[in-house]
Amino acid sequence: MIRFNHVGKVFTNGVVALKDVSFHVPKGQFVFLTGHSGAGKSSILALIFAEQKPSEGEVRVSGYQISKLTAKEIPRLRRRLGVVFQDFRLLEYRTVEENVGFALEVTGARPETIPNRVMRVLTQVGLASKARAYPRELSGGEQQRVAIARALVNDPHILVADEPTGNLDERATRGVFQLLREINAGGTVVVMATHNMELVRDTGYRTIELRGGRIVYDSGVDENGELR
Ligand SMILES: Nc1ncnc2c1ncn2[C@@H]1O[C@H](COP(=O)(O)OP(=O)(O)O)[C@@H](O)[C@H]1O
Ligand SMILES: [Mg+2]
Repeated sequence: MIRFNHVGKVFTNGVVALKDVSFHVPKGQFVFLTGHSGAGKSSILALIFAEQKPSEGEVRVSGYQISKLTAKEIPRLRRRLGVVFQDFRLLEYRTVEENVGFALEVTGARPETIPNRVMRVLTQVGLASKARAYPRELSGGEQQRVAIARALVNDPHILVADEPTGNLDERATRGVFQLLREINAGGTVVVMATHNMELVRDTGYRTIELRGGRIVYDSGVDENGELR
């Protein structure tokens, strides 16, 4: 599903964000990306959803090679990806259902199919009763669940979450994490960047730790670099 092959990323200002990063995420996996601030977690996610291109090496996602994407292919790839951020990024002047529906509109979904699909994902995240509310009327945990519903509404193969619990208290963190586990149990690959080691511990999920743009630990491979 996702393959990084000796990937380097140097930003235009000369910052080296990633060095010789290689890993492979097979179908159905839940992966944590961990490491301190500046370690390169967001840079990896930006390459996965084609916001950035690698400076070196190869990134393949869902059959596409990121460095060779054409303008037409980028929206096709993004339709297969759901993305969630720490700061939710909801549209403030749109209701919950409009926020989620908008993600369908921009991908050209047939308008008559939108209400049902929106309610289906809002039910999945436990927020069907808040469909007409505005983001500011919701708690942080609820806002993040709306953002997750929006990420899911196009039935992505891969869900990418960048510090999705970074702005949440412990209880909301547990709720959002539980939701991500359920999504993964349904077959969606989940790649979650976090520095909440308490959350990572004891889950048994694969953990890739970054330091200074390099992978320093990967629980998902053996000493020969083969997937466990
Ligand atoms: N768009 C950008 N332009 C220039 N430098 C960046 C950009 N994004 C990230 N960086 C730099 O790349 C390094 C890795 O950052 P990042 O991937 O955001 O780490 P993390 O998400 O682990 O905190 C940092 O030194 C950061 O300042
Ligand atoms: Mg980051």
